[in-house]
Amino acid sequence: MKENVFIMKNERDTEKFGIKLGQEVKTGTVIALSGELGTGKTTLTKAIAKGLSIEETITSPTFNIVKEYDGGRLPLYHFDVYRIGDVEEMYELGYEEYFYGEGVCVIEWASIIEEIIPDNGMRIDIQYGREEGERVYKCIF
Ligand SMILES: Nc1ncnc2c1ncn2[C@@H]1O[C@H](COP(=O)(O)OP(=O)(O)OP(=O)(O)O)[C@@H](O)[C@H]1O
Ligand SMILES: [Mg+2]
Repeated sequence: MKENVFIMKNERDTEKFGIKLGQEVKTGTVIALSGELGTGKTTLTKAIAKGLSIEETITSPTFNIVKEYDGGRLPLYHFDVYRIGDVEEMYELGYEEYFYGEGVCVIEWASIIEEIIPDNGMRIDIQYGREEGERVYKCIF
């Protein structure tokens, strides 16, 4: 495990990064995204989906916690746990089937459920950069 820092200068960089990640990601990977409101977690997830060759439109799963997309190279399970009250809700929805399954999990606001993120998960912490449109990615994988 090592930390890598990547600078996204604009939304296009985020899109390229996400597409490449989606093309290369291995079965069973959990990608834990954290970062303030509007740092681009959903934007990155959309690009990962594109890289997985998922054609369906990705919409925010805020009210259902998880949305599933099949039809790509691997299934994508898109979680947004922002509104979760307690980590117990993750057990209720049977998160283990997703986290330890064959697909790829992308979790927005993953820090809220840090205790159940697998140790071998990939972590991307997104921060606003100095310039407009700039984002700083701290990645551990
Ligand atoms: N480099 C960048 N990468 C990603 N998004 C960017 C970038 N620069 C500007 N943006 C803009 O920032 C916004 C990011 O919104 P997005 O919904 O993806 O964020 P989010 O982190 O998912 O927010 P939330 O916390 O509400 O879920 C979009 O309007 C996008 O156009
Ligand atoms: Mg979002």
